[in-house]
Amino acid sequence: MFDCLNESIVGRAIKNGIIDFQAADIREYSKDKHQKCDDTPYGGGAGMVMTAQPIYDCIKAIDPDREYLRIYMSPKGERLTDGMCRELATHDKLLLLCGHYEGVDQRVLDLCIDREISIGDYVLSGGELAAMTVIDGTVRFVDGVLGSCESHEDESFSDGMLEYPQYTRPPEFMGLRVPEVLLNGNHKAIAKFRKEQSEAITRSRRPDLMPDGKGDDR
Ligand code: ADE
Repeated sequence: MFDCLNESIVGRAIKNGIIDFQAADIREYSKDKHQKCDDTPYGGGAGMVMTAQPIYDCIKAIDPDREYLRIYMSPKGERLTDGMCRELATHDKLLLLCGHYEGVDQRVLDLCIDREISIGDYVLSGGELAAMTVIDGTVRFVDGVLGSCESHEDESFSDGMLEYPQYTRPPEFMGLRVPEVLLNGNHKAIAKFRKEQSEAITRSRRPDLMPDGKGDDR
C-alpha cells in the first residue's frame, strides 16, 4: 500500500535522501504459531481487536531507545491540521502505528504511544491511508523538500484561510477570461484581489476558519 509514497514530492524527497521511510509488517512479530494478530474483544461486541504482543514487539524492535515520536492513527485521535503537520515536521523520527478491525488493545497504546491522530470524522478500514496522509502533509514542511518554485507559504491554511483561485495561460478558455486584475502586473491590486477572493471562499466554505467565525449569511 505504501508504494505510492515513491511518487511525486515525497518520492523525490526519499530519492534525494532528505527523508527515509520504512514499513514494518506487524504480523512478522507475532509469537502465535499461525502469526495471529487479532482476537475477540473482552466484554463482547462486534469485530476483532489487534493483540498487544505483536505490536509491542514490533515497536520495540524499531525503536529500542525511544527516539521516535510514536503516533497511533485512529478516528479517536486529535484531528490533523496544517499546524500539526508543521509541528510533526520538526521531529527527526516518526513512528506511525496503523490499526485495523475494531482497534488495538488499549494496553499497547498506554505502554507505547505518545499521541493519537485522526485525519477526519469518518472511519477508514485501516490506518494506512491516514498514515500516508500524515506523511504527505508533513514531509512538505521538512527543509529542502519543496523546490524554490514550490512554496507552502501561499497555500490554503498557511495564513489560516483557504487559498485564492489560480489561473494560467491561455487568458481565455471556453469563453472564460482570467480576471483582468491578474494580467496588468499591478502587484498591490493583485494582492488585494487575492486576499478578497481568499476571504470570500473561506467565508462560504469554511466559516469556522474566519476570525469572526461567521459564514456568508453573517
Ligand atoms: N483509522 C481509521 N479511521 C481513521 C481516521 N479517520 N483517522 C486516522 N486513522 C484512522
